[in-house]
Amino acid sequence: MTTVALATNGILTGGELPREHVSSIWDLASELKRGYQPFARRLAGKSAVMLFEKPSLRTRVSFEIGIAKLGGYGLFFDHAFERIGERETVHDYARNLERWADVIIARTYSHMVLEQLAQYSRVPVVNALSDDFHPCQAFADLFTLREKLGGLEGRRLAYIGDGNNVCNSLILLGSIVGLRLTVVSPSGFEPPARVLESAREASVISGATLDIASDPGAVAGHDAIYTDAWTSMGQEHEWQLRKQKFNDYQVNAELMDRATTNGTAPLFMHCLPAHRGEEVTDEVIDSPNSIVFDQAENRMHAQNALLMHLLPAGAA
Ligand code: CP
Ligand code: NVA
Repeated sequence: MTTVALATNGILTGGELPREHVSSIWDLASELKRGYQPFARRLAGKSAVMLFEKPSLRTRVSFEIGIAKLGGYGLFFDHAFERIGERETVHDYARNLERWADVIIARTYSHMVLEQLAQYSRVPVVNALSDDFHPCQAFADLFTLREKLGGLEGRRLAYIGDGNNVCNSLILLGSIVGLRLTVVSPSGFEPPARVLESAREASVISGATLDIASDPGAVAGHDAIYTDAWTSMGQEHEWQLRKQKFNDYQVNAELMDRATTNGTAPLFMHCLPAHRGEEVTDEVIDSPNSIVFDQAENRMHAQNALLMHLLPAGAA
């Protein structure tokens, strides 16, 4: 049975664990996927509190069902109508939650709120998506890609679209595991410099590569093409502008043809929810090369492996 070392600080960006731990987490996710029976009591006596300021299907359901499969308890706490830190300080909030819960899982607008929760809480904090990062998604996505391609060594992923939360975590995790990543974004929507710098530092050790491009033609020669919504949650007021800026960045049959090398079409990836007809066409997302629902399924296995990494066995 795979075991992984303890990390106490939680998972906020996707850039915090060394490569060996990421590999062990993915090996464990594969074991879980083969069957939960041997792990049915692994989180017995453990409780997770799940604070969500934004809507969710995949993250909420995969955490709730996943934790139940490991024998733990997950309490969903809807924060749609009150931001964390409004009713009382984030400090006091964290100091309360740590008295009851073994792990705090939070989906916030401000990434700083997550950092404060992690700073003030003695239990680990898991980012279930913030404006800046989506590490649970990246862990599931690169696990899925590894599964589909039989490994990530020398493999090339192109992310096309907004240099956003999903993209940032893919960049950070990819840079740790040696992925060859190309990010293709319109001018003004590139990933932030601090994320690129951090990834470039990690790449020196891992051998990962990171190319930033603005021409959609840069998707050529990749094993998989990934996109996300042009307008993320909280940016709805920018929809008109974004639709215009991202118009040439749609993943459609023509773009997939441009990406095809020696007759092999790339896989198609999306974190979901998809805005069909905007960043991706029905033809692409419903094609045999689309692995979007495998990504969604793997959210649960990857997150469960992450929780097992953060919560050592036995100390209930
Ligand atoms: N991909 C993802 O995080 O989906 P939800 O917003 O539905 O949780
Ligand atoms: N970038 C998207 C991801 C949703 C899972 C958003 O933040 O809305």
